[in-house]
Amino acid sequence: MNLPEAGTPSGAAPGAGTPSHEPLPLYGPAFAADPHGHYRRLRAQGPLARVRIAPDIDATLVTDYQAAVDLLRDTDTFTKDPRAWQAGVPADSPVLPVLGHRPTALFSDGAVHARYREAINDTLALIEPHLLRAEVAGIARRLIGTFSATGTGDLIAQYARRLPLHVFTSSFGVAPGDTERIVRGASGMMDTAEDAAAAYADLVGVVSGLVAERRARPGRDLTSYLLAHPAGLDDDEAVRQITLIMSAGHDPTTNLIGNALLRMLSDTRYGGFLHGGAMTAQEAINDVLWRDPPLANMGAHYPRRDTEFHGVPLRAGQLVLVSFAAANTQSPPATSGLAVRSGDSAHLAWSTGPHRCPAKQPALLMAMTAIEQLTSQLCDLELAVDPEGLLWRPGPFHRAPAHLPVRFTPLDTLPGTPAGTAPGSVDHGQARVGGTPNG
Ligand code: HEM
Repeated sequence: MNLPEAGTPSGAAPGAGTPSHEPLPLYGPAFAADPHGHYRRLRAQGPLARVRIAPDIDATLVTDYQAAVDLLRDTDTFTKDPRAWQAGVPADSPVLPVLGHRPTALFSDGAVHARYREAINDTLALIEPHLLRAEVAGIARRLIGTFSATGTGDLIAQYARRLPLHVFTSSFGVAPGDTERIVRGASGMMDTAEDAAAAYADLVGVVSGLVAERRARPGRDLTSYLLAHPAGLDDDEAVRQITLIMSAGHDPTTNLIGNALLRMLSDTRYGGFLHGGAMTAQEAINDVLWRDPPLANMGAHYPRRDTEFHGVPLRAGQLVLVSFAAANTQSPPATSGLAVRSGDSAHLAWSTGPHRCPAKQPALLMAMTAIEQLTSQLCDLELAVDPEGLLWRPGPFHRAPAHLPVRFTPLDTLPGTPAGTAPGSVDHGQARVGGTPNG
């Protein structure tokens, strides 16, 4: 195993790009201000280029669409297991909460991955779309009710960041008293390394309690179904896969809702969206998935051996990331022979290959319903800041506004919501979105 030489940034990829190119930083204000300018510069170096994803961590980034597809499907050459790479990374590195190994589907290959994946797929398949839509609409109305009387709000902190986790806690049968801990734990995972480690530990703690409870007393919820699945996951395996679903599902769904709302509020092409209905929300979502996919640079893979990929030498164990954002926006589109650009069948926002997102349909339904509810409940909704002055989430992995301050006409009461009902007080009855798990 060739690990990075001492004194060089961990995961440096001398073969990728032209040696004279300094790795381009994909974090900090310059990247946040102009990610697509960065992707253009990287593409000029070839299908793969060296980037810096944290002060001491380099990676090789795939920016070419065809190379991205080839990599994501090539399980013979690449593994998802980061442990060889991770051995050369400082334990307090800010990228480890996202890239560090955990015993889940995301970091497994072959038969181990197939077993976890089947259990996850079958569990998510139990989600009934019409029940999910009703659940999301109810949670959305309650969240809107927490700020609708004020005439102002932050649609990220008060809405997009909270909604997906409330949906997960409800469907997995989390006790109402633990819901806030799950929300804090999963949203904290993407923060600084120190907070993220504590957040993950707390999330695992709450989910462990839930799994123990449902093992003893199965209910009509997705946790009970996962435990009863023929894959026969033990308690720790179940805890890890549920934690993965919540953390992998929370952040990108938040980002998709936030990015789509921002487009609708700031892009004149969506003028009059308040009365535009579902088509407009769908167009905004589609546009985001093509141009600013919620996971911008992810799909971490590691060559199993020294190899050459699309003409670029790679070393065994080095970190290779896929830029879903750069591949999607390649010009001329590499997808032109495959699908119409405005459709959703060819972009890589959901990735492709064995680790493609298993939750595309529920995620789209959640985002669409969340946007429809907001735009139909709040009148005269507009951004309260100049779009140029918006803050973006830092870091290489996500493309999403950090906040979305808005103003609107204050509401006395929200239609269909008892006054004063808060999301924390949602009655998390069981089997809201699932079928009969033990049946
Ligand atoms: C807008 C929303 C979403 C987007 C854009 C998205 C995108 C993705 C992408 C690109 C991957 C591959 C990541 C990688 O290989 O590093 C992935 C994996 C995954 N996603 Fe999603 N996702 C979304 C929502 C969700 C939701 C709501 C859930 C759960 C209910 C979910 C569960 C997962 C899981 C479990 C994996 C790992 C699959 C595996 O390794 O086999 N995602 N997602």
